[in-house]
Amino acid sequence: MSLERIKFVQSKFGSLFQKSDLTIFLNPDAPSYCLSFAFERLVAYQTFYPVVDQLETAGIKCVQNIPEQKFDLAIVTIPKSKKLARHFIYLATKAVPKGLIVIDGDKTSGVESVIRDLKKKVKIDTVVSKAHGKTAWFKTPTNLDEYKDIPSRIGGGFETQAGVFSSDEIDPASKLLGDIISSGLSGTGADLGGGWGYLTARALETKDIRELHFIEADLRALTLAKSNVNDERVKFCWGNALQWEAPKPLDFIIMNPPFHYMGRALPRLGADFIKVASRNLKKSGSLLMVANRHLPYEDIIKGHFRSFSELSGSKKFKVICAENPIKL
Ligand SMILES: C[S@@+](CC[C@H](N)C(=O)[O-])C[C@H]1O[C@@H](n2cnc3c(N)ncnc32)[C@H](O)[C@@H]1O
Repeated sequence: MSLERIKFVQSKFGSLFQKSDLTIFLNPDAPSYCLSFAFERLVAYQTFYPVVDQLETAGIKCVQNIPEQKFDLAIVTIPKSKKLARHFIYLATKAVPKGLIVIDGDKTSGVESVIRDLKKKVKIDTVVSKAHGKTAWFKTPTNLDEYKDIPSRIGGGFETQAGVFSSDEIDPASKLLGDIISSGLSGTGADLGGGWGYLTARALETKDIRELHFIEADLRALTLAKSNVNDERVKFCWGNALQWEAPKPLDFIIMNPPFHYMGRALPRLGADFIKVASRNLKKSGSLLMVANRHLPYEDIIKGHFRSFSELSGSKKFKVICAENPIKL
């Protein structure tokens, strides 16, 4: 919820949030958005590790499953995936069987269409437009079971869920890299930002891999990966790849690095993943990565690896192999 909108709603509808309300905040982006609530009566539902880390550092209790305990108030920050937005609203109705659900989002997150759809199912009390976004609220009890998202199977038999990367089909860029890494890799490696497990599943087609560290920030994706990749060679880690240290320097790293953070473009993230790869590889180690062709990663690769080449590609994507990391 944007700070400007929270302040506006509080000044205009003062009685909406009470400090005494037991509150669950689904998907808060940052600790600052929680400042209007009494921390001792607030629980944040968040599955994205870097945000969980910030919230917990600020003293906010975080959960990754909706607790049995019931709440008076739920705040839902709408994510970009409409299906996931609906699922969060469904979870909110379960957590607040009798109380108030406030949903909020920037227009760019699609909040208007979520509210439009919601209006067909429940009686919305009020809709406020402010600071390029909207806030709306309704009372429970209400039945929104049809908003519940359930995992589905996509091509290749993989299980995915709303809101995770490439939830409807295998990502075409990852497929290009997958076809290359399905043979030729050996030893110990890592998949940075492994998602629901596609690249790891392809890499493990070769028996020469001894161990593969799987690092993913989104617990929902990591949980899917555990069932998509059922292989004892994999060490799963729910964490922030930017802070991850391999137990020993690695033979290889595979990745389709992210360039979004909480739904907003952040190309620097991909560059930071390349630095993490360079830092965690053996001197003879290799990074195999895929990226959108327009993303200018070559300069950062040159600064962190002695050699690199394009192994495969298309108009939209490039698969790069970078070798011999420079130890800075
Ligand atoms: C472009 S997707 C690639 C997913 C998967 N490797 C594939 O190819 O289908 C990038 C993944 O990185 C994850 N991610 C984003 N930031 C991260 C971070 N700081 N640490 C670990 N994973 C992160 C995202 O949740 C997402 O699953």
